[in-house]
Amino acid sequence: MKISPQAGKKFGAIVEGFDAETASADEIVELKRAVYANKIAVLKNQDLSAQQFHALGKRMGETGAYYEPVYHHPEVAEVFVSSNVKEEDGRQIGVPKTGKFWHSDYQFMPEPFDITLIYPQVVPSKNRGTYFINMAEAYERLSEELKVAVKGTTATHSVLQYFKIRPTDVYRPISEIIDEVNAKTPPVTSPTAVTHPATGETVLYVSEGFTMSIEDADGTPRPDLLKELLEATGQLDRTYEHENIHLQTFEKGDMLVWDNRSLIHRALHTATPEPAVSYRVTVYDDHSTA
Ligand SMILES: [Fe+2]
Repeated sequence: MKISPQAGKKFGAIVEGFDAETASADEIVELKRAVYANKIAVLKNQDLSAQQFHALGKRMGETGAYYEPVYHHPEVAEVFVSSNVKEEDGRQIGVPKTGKFWHSDYQFMPEPFDITLIYPQVVPSKNRGTYFINMAEAYERLSEELKVAVKGTTATHSVLQYFKIRPTDVYRPISEIIDEVNAKTPPVTSPTAVTHPATGETVLYVSEGFTMSIEDADGTPRPDLLKELLEATGQLDRTYEHENIHLQTFEKGDMLVWDNRSLIHRALHTATPEPAVSYRVTVYDDHSTA
């Protein structure tokens, strides 16, 4: 196994010669270290079934099935499927148009995932990739005034503003769906800046997609501060040229493994999408409190 920095990119490492089926325990440890240090590891030349992909996730920590079954792979529930391709019999497996907003995975849950593995199955010929922002570095780049303003505040996250209506929701009153979403996934509150347990870095824990509000220590809402933080970190930049934004491209056979505590990400938006399918496994690592 050879790990080298991704040439010409803001962060990320390329991992060559990694065989998920025969990897030693030491190699798994080394891979996880590379993920924390480089934020993303791109494993080259992978050829795994959904079952083997899930088995690799299990070697990195504890995996779990997504709370909405409509996303599950039909044979391996722990594999989340993002797909805009219909099966030959017309069935839709997985969900199309996932993640076209800045977020980290499960940020709206009490215990967000620590590591995300994405394994593209059908790769578009152009416009492929995912945007990332390293929120540890973004925190370091904040002005001193903003760093001071963040201290002692909390951020509240909810899935509500990007919740996707399911086939079973058609013809249901929207108010009933909203009540159900709030009952199933109530808003969660965390410090606005958190300490990364593996690296010790301070990570700004806000995203355009899931952070609904920021509150002062006395509970006063701070919409001004939330907007300033989204702006300063690059999340409101629709040209995607902000210095914090990294476009991670991939090709068939690549698997992306990233530090979901440090990174927020967003699917590349394209007006005319090509067929795209990817599998995802999410992991709680040994620093997890879940
Ligand atoms: Fe995501």
